[in-house]
Amino acid sequence: MKKLPSLFFGILVLFGSAWIGVVAYSYNNLSVLEPLPDEETGGTLPPTLPGLAVIGEKVYAANGCVECHSQQVRLAPLTTDIAKELGKRQTVARDYLRRTTAFPGSNRTGQDLSNYGARNDDANAIHKKLYAPRSVVPWSTMPSYSYLYEVRKIQGQPSNESVVGLTGAAAPKPGYEVVPTQKAKALAAYLLSLNQSYALPEAPPPPAQ
Ligand code: HEC
Repeated sequence: MKKLPSLFFGILVLFGSAWIGVVAYSYNNLSVLEPLPDEETGGTLPPTLPGLAVIGEKVYAANGCVECHSQQVRLAPLTTDIAKELGKRQTVARDYLRRTTAFPGSNRTGQDLSNYGARNDDANAIHKKLYAPRSVVPWSTMPSYSYLYEVRKIQGQPSNESVVGLTGAAAPKPGYEVVPTQKAKALAAYLLSLNQSYALPEAPPPPAQ
């Protein structure tokens, strides 16, 4: 019983130092981060997301894309993220400032999507991928998000929003078309907005090899 006070003191030190290390130290360092002025555009860095992309961020979170896709380009000599051209520089805390939900991660099945908008500017390519992943990459393990699309009978002219280029089993029956719902359109806008090509003082691009 005599040892009880030292036991409690030990527990206090253990949890206290963990709290200082994980919560207080991080809060102290990260809570002071602010967006920086962007001299080129007169806006800020990181830039604000366009309105539709803000909704798309919620669709991304709700559909569990983070299960397989990180949004964190990791440091150059330790990982091959930059060599694989997933980004030109490491992702840092400031990059997440404008985000309602941040999606960092060191494990992933698909590609890191931090810079997806820098690799692709075609919304139709995104819709094809989400509607029928294997129509784009035959061995893909990515699930289909076809429930974010409506297959409907063409009334008069096909809609100018319908997904084009679907082939094989993914192609709609003759006289039908696949049209993205509002959620799919927002998700595509979000993916197109993902682009960390701007430079931040704490994360300059690595020198060319
Ligand atoms: C079960 C794992 C899994 C889930 C969940 C998943 N994906 Fe994927 N995704 C993959 C894999 C694996 C690839 C790479 C192979 C391929 O292209 O299909 C991929 C590729 C992609 C690509 C192409 C990336 C590039 O750089 O070309 C995009 C875009 C994408 N996924 C978006 C999404 C979105 C948006 C969601 C959520 C709605 C999602 N994925 C959910 C596994 C997944």
